[in-house]
Amino acid sequence: MTIERHLTDADLARDLRADVSHGLRAQPKTLPPKWFYDARGAALFEDITRTEEYYPTRAERAILSDQAPAIAAASGADTLLELGAGSAEKTRLLLDALGEAGTLRRYIPVDVSGEALTETVARTGREYPGVEIHGVIADFEQHLRLLPNGGRRLIAFLGSTIGNLRPPDRIAFLRTVRKDMTDGDALLLGTDLVKDRARLLAAYDDAGGVTAEFNRNVLHVINREIGSNFAPERFQHVVMWDDANEWVEMRLRSSQDQRIRLASLDLTVEFAEGEDLHTEISAKFRREGVESDLCDAGLTLRRWWTDPSGDFALSLAVAD
Ligand code: TRP
Repeated sequence: MTIERHLTDADLARDLRADVSHGLRAQPKTLPPKWFYDARGAALFEDITRTEEYYPTRAERAILSDQAPAIAAASGADTLLELGAGSAEKTRLLLDALGEAGTLRRYIPVDVSGEALTETVARTGREYPGVEIHGVIADFEQHLRLLPNGGRRLIAFLGSTIGNLRPPDRIAFLRTVRKDMTDGDALLLGTDLVKDRARLLAAYDDAGGVTAEFNRNVLHVINREIGSNFAPERFQHVVMWDDANEWVEMRLRSSQDQRIRLASLDLTVEFAEGEDLHTEISAKFRREGVESDLCDAGLTLRRWWTDPSGDFALSLAVAD
């Protein structure tokens, strides 16, 4: 078991400062989603996946339960490289199938969060004794080219995390993945699908308020890391459906006029009552869109699987 680090705490601190400084000066004010996931954010996200309303995790798990052997066979991979592995809870289905197929030699979980990754490496190390576990602490938007290659890799990007990237970033991401792929590698991509708007909105606004707390957690992260004085309770969790772009949008809406001091950035930011801080998009996909994004990046869709209700899809793509 090894852990390789492309991101130090100092790098993360610097990236957060740059993102906050840039995002809070922008119009509209915006923060990138990766800062949701400190230890508390990761735990809140786990709680989201257990809410009644948040179907994507269950739907993706259902596909993996049914199709993991088909995925293993179609990829023939000896290495599973998982981008944004987090707690790697669904990964076991893939590891088991690759193990059954007799090809599995190596598992490479990649995550920005060192805490989550260290735990995942330790746990999978115990559970898969014959498999080489090589964790990498890295940002999948910055360090793709530094990730281990060799062997025949199945590169998994699950949880519809690709939907959290804006379209230009999404295409850039897929192109970088494509450039890093060699013959025999395959990409396994999880995408949540367009569906009834009420269900989509509820998935990001559960009745128990877990998602609201998750959204506000980014303000706690900034307070702690930057020494700012956001009062998270003065921001309301807002969710809307953008029909033209087919994405769910999450915002934090200021409930009053307020002034925030970000001491270590030497920055003061004013929020008007009702002003929104844009925190996240979650794009929803259709097969044609996924296929054309893949195609733009030089990838060919080989297989497409959905859960029985057609809520979520897994795609397997290869370099063309
Ligand atoms: N990739 C997940 C999604 O888009 C992330 C997510 C789920 C999320 N719920 C959220 C991000 C709430 C921000 C807020 O579904």
